[in-house]
Amino acid sequence: MIHQASTTAPVNIATLKYWGKRDPALNLPTNNSISVTLSQDDLRTLTTASCSPDFTQDELWLNGKQEDVSGKRLVACFRELRALRHKMEDSDSSLPKLADQKLKIVSENNFPTAAGLASSAAGFAALIRAVANLYELQETPEQLSIVARQGSGSACRSLYGGYVAWEMGTESDGSDSRAVQIATADHWPEMRAAILVVSADKKDTSSTTGMQVTVHTSPLFKERVTTVVPERFAQMKKSILDRDFPTFAELTMRDSNQFHATCLDSYPPIFYLNDVSRASIRVVEAINKAAGATIAAYTFDAGPNCVIYYEDKNEELVLGALKAILGRVEGWEKHQSVDAKKIDVDERWESELANG
Ligand code: ADP
Ligand code: DP6
Ligand code: CO
Repeated sequence: MIHQASTTAPVNIATLKYWGKRDPALNLPTNNSISVTLSQDDLRTLTTASCSPDFTQDELWLNGKQEDVSGKRLVACFRELRALRHKMEDSDSSLPKLADQKLKIVSENNFPTAAGLASSAAGFAALIRAVANLYELQETPEQLSIVARQGSGSACRSLYGGYVAWEMGTESDGSDSRAVQIATADHWPEMRAAILVVSADKKDTSSTTGMQVTVHTSPLFKERVTTVVPERFAQMKKSILDRDFPTFAELTMRDSNQFHATCLDSYPPIFYLNDVSRASIRVVEAINKAAGATIAAYTFDAGPNCVIYYEDKNEELVLGALKAILGRVEGWEKHQSVDAKKIDVDERWESELANG
């Protein structure tokens, strides 16, 4: 007898970045963060969770490959979900005993994994939701966000659509470090996102590793979490509630820039952006300059891929310029990548370098 449940979860791209843990074991962040959840028609994780008395071990299959299940984060998620199911089974003896059975998770991302497009967010959100459905848990998205956070911090925000805040909380056990919805997607229906897939390669430094190097070595990071983020959090929330695109856009770009500056300020430095990423920043700047207003905002997670937020009425202007300069960006299904031209070093430089 196999019990089974399937679900999908969307990606969310932060506009105020989570970068830093105050408690790595519980995955508690050093600061509040804000994100926009993207449509599941584009980027999503599809996950099936099943359990059976015949299964002999927990298993996770990601994009067709079996993954290690001994990692602390996954273990914590399984433990929490089982505890919630145990509570139900203890109070109702007619329920099938699923909590003690081994779990099999089969998951697929329809976009690059570990490339800075929030695969850990969609991935753990889908995993938590799939098991919660399998166990018929009655917990609210907010309660489930506390579990998802322990899998991957950014995952707690993917349990909601629209505009989402992860409130860092103050409790040492993490019981108030959870996601809340700031506004639904309907609140600002004109909002659009374009994704420039600069590279689908797995990043060299995972988010988990990178942020701890920053926490321990970057002086700029201290300034960021103590003075910059608290003020920016309030301003960004207000800009979303007011549907004030220029303010939202400027805060988003400034925050992406500062996050990548703390990466560069880490020792050894961490580089997530590449030349094409920087070229896309320039294009967005040029678009805004030509429009005489801030109509587009770039942001980069921990990877080179650019996400550009804009409003529907400016789609032709924004996508037109991006397409003309950077390549084909008409939509995920149609064009998966931006053409980047390979440029060989001029012979003149080669001889100068050879001559010292
Ligand atoms: P990203 O920028 O894509 O979020 P991270 O470094 O934060 O990159 O996390 C990537 C890791 O997240 C993967 O190596 C894998 O362990 C985990 N992950 C990604 N997708 C899934 C999924 N669908 N189910 C479970 N875990 C996933
Ligand atoms: C740059 O949530 O992937 O995307 O909690 O260690 O799994 P872990 O990290 P993760 O970090 C996301 C960092 C970011 C910013 C953000 O999503 O807020
Ligand atoms: Co991630």
